[in-house]
Amino acid sequence: MDGIRVCVFDAYGTLFDVSAAARALAEEPGREGFAAVWPQVSADWRTKQLQYSWLRAVTGAHCDFWQVTQDGLDWALERAGIGDAELREALLGLYRRLAAYPEVPEMLSRLKDAGRATAILSNGSPGMLADAVASAGIGPHLDAVLSVEAVGVFKPARAVYDLVGARFGRAPSEVLFVSSNGWDAASAAACGFRTLWVNRAGEPVDRLPGRPERVARDLTGVPALLGID
Ligand code: LAC
Repeated sequence: MDGIRVCVFDAYGTLFDVSAAARALAEEPGREGFAAVWPQVSADWRTKQLQYSWLRAVTGAHCDFWQVTQDGLDWALERAGIGDAELREALLGLYRRLAAYPEVPEMLSRLKDAGRATAILSNGSPGMLADAVASAGIGPHLDAVLSVEAVGVFKPARAVYDLVGARFGRAPSEVLFVSSNGWDAASAAACGFRTLWVNRAGEPVDRLPGRPERVARDLTGVPALLGID
């Protein structure tokens, strides 16, 4: 991919492992009941979090992503028959300190060393993103952390993707947008960005107007994609 000056990454599911919170809690001693149901709780939590973000964008009923994250968790816990307030707080606490995928720090640092600008563009609230970036230790590798709160609407609203050009003064053709969310990569492609869909789970491509230009199983190959060795 030639001519890329800025690499922009989605946060949750792309740089940060969103299932890490429930997985970590399930491994604690005394959490055997939760260990039996955590994969479903984690999947429901993510699905509802995203559905609520899209529905709030469509209906103009914006609230920040921390609220949507709590609402999604409450739905998932109720579906699993869990009414444990301590467990809820523990999951939310872990969500504020999600681990980055193992390849992330080295990948970002190679992009920066090669003179590319790097950024996050996320639904996350500024506070959530600051916590996640700090706990993953990737702040020094990022030029900007862009939150949808600057425009008050969630992805895939066009106004969100326009934040990249406003911050970096670059055309979409000079920007590589990377997301593990197929709908996010598709929407960025429809905005004219160069795109990489990180398809960790081997899912089918989303049937949406934009198509991701490249597909990979993880983030390791991003520098090579830009000709950086
Ligand atoms: C984000 C969600 C979509 O970080 O993962 O924007």
